Amino acid sequence: MLGYGEAGAGQPLVLIHGFPFDHRMWVGQLTGLADGLRLIALDLPGRGRSIDIAPDGATIDSYADAVAGLIEELGIAPAAVCGLSMGGYVAFALWRRHPAAVGALVLAATRAGEDSEEGKAARNTNADLVWAESTIGLAEDMVPKLLSPASDGSVHRDVLEMFLDTPAMTAIADLAAMRDRPDSFPTLPTITVPVLIVRGADDQIATGDEATAMAAALPSAGEPVTIPDAGHLVPMEQPEAFNAAVRDFLGVAETNA
Ligand code: MLT
Repeated sequence: MLGYGEAGAGQPLVLIHGFPFDHRMWVGQLTGLADGLRLIALDLPGRGRSIDIAPDGATIDSYADAVAGLIEELGIAPAAVCGLSMGGYVAFALWRRHPAAVGALVLAATRAGEDSEEGKAARNTNADLVWAESTIGLAEDMVPKLLSPASDGSVHRDVLEMFLDTPAMTAIADLAAMRDRPDSFPTLPTITVPVLIVRGADDQIATGDEATAMAAALPSAGEPVTIPDAGHLVPMEQPEAFNAAVRDFLGVAETNA
């Protein structure tokens, strides 16, 4: 079973991290969103508390199956599921393969489309870089693109720490899984549970145009929520605004406010 961090009690919300992170990217939710919610911040195979589960040959579908297994083990289906970026790719696959596990979806800083040919080639280049230099080489290239100029140094430090803690073989497995993922646009009209789309205004990876295109294809999503002074890692960069958007979407009031 996948490892996870947990906080709170009440309506379950499963949090799926992005690449190349782990459950610690949700610290601002585990500490600030747990009032009225049972938060389960899982680790996909090969990192964090799932470090002993080999990610070799992983696909986005196999990650989704592992998430479904955790939801079943915990007896929390149908659970609200929040996926950030790669975690969103996993959430789409979870809906396709295990719709009964999903009660609502928060799509954070994610994209429904598949990689372009150029994007697939970049995955291979990044895998070669990780093979040669471990995740430090990738961090030098990626971290500046992930965060808003408004983000403070402590977020930068926490992001870097997760990069460095992700084993090279796990990062390489993720890159192949993301490269080979299918287009999820055909999935969107099939989604019948409520959906929140949320992104940072300064996100260079999950753009506003992509959020608008997803919302147009989703019968059960409102207007995308755009959070100022945040880049790709919006839950880490602006946890209070992110938490408020999720709370509002799930209809869970804060009792200690
Ligand atoms: C992520 O944050 O999970 C990645 O940026 C996703 C991607 O590279 O497509």
